Amino acid sequence: MTKLRIGVLVSGTGSNLQALIDASRGGRLDADIAVVISNKAGVRALERAREADIPSVVVSHKEFKSRERFEVALIKALRDHDVRCVVLAGFMRLLTGYFLDAFSGRVINIHPSLLPAFPGVDAQRQAFEHGVKIAGCTVHFVDRGTDTGPIIAQRALQVRDDDTAETLRARILELEHQLLPEALQLLAEDRLRVEGRRVLIADEGRRAVDHAALDKAERGA
Ligand code: GAR
Repeated sequence: MTKLRIGVLVSGTGSNLQALIDASRGGRLDADIAVVISNKAGVRALERAREADIPSVVVSHKEFKSRERFEVALIKALRDHDVRCVVLAGFMRLLTGYFLDAFSGRVINIHPSLLPAFPGVDAQRQAFEHGVKIAGCTVHFVDRGTDTGPIIAQRALQVRDDDTAETLRARILELEHQLLPEALQLLAEDRLRVEGRRVLIADEGRRAVDHAALDKAERGA
């Protein structure tokens, strides 16, 4: 069976990218990372891609006059690598409907809060300063809003009295490294079905979409 080909979009450290690389190499994620694309040159995430022999490309948003032209370049780089699913792993640019239409229903994001609480930047600090007792992270499909798409999976932790914004950030990041490969594996196994705002997860071994039946229907059998 051909593996799901994913493109990972990054902007910085790339520890979530590393979690995907490790999961894919360790047999916990049936997906091939076909390309890593960064909107910033010189970031650690690009080094991680090189260390893992994964093709990487820099598409700097600064070099384009409009958001749409930037996205045209992103789409081209992803298509050049035959990518079927796009993962935003610490990618700090907002994507428009133009990009999302090119990979309809196949763009997912990891966000460091329990959405819909604390969307946008610096979510962990927002949560910490708000004084929440439970914090965590969310993997969701990307829609046209900021961190508003249907939720695939979430993981939570208890905020401790001795936490600081920084220790909380680090503890949430550890959860992200578990959650992102797990959520992506559900997608790789075709077990996700979106119904309105809800993402339903088919039981293990059962695909949400019956591809064999679809193929048969397409062939007119
Ligand atoms: C992660 O905490 C990720 O959830 C967050 O950026 C960090 C990237 O770390 N993303 C967002 O805040 C997106 N709104 P990484 O580069 O080490 O994976």
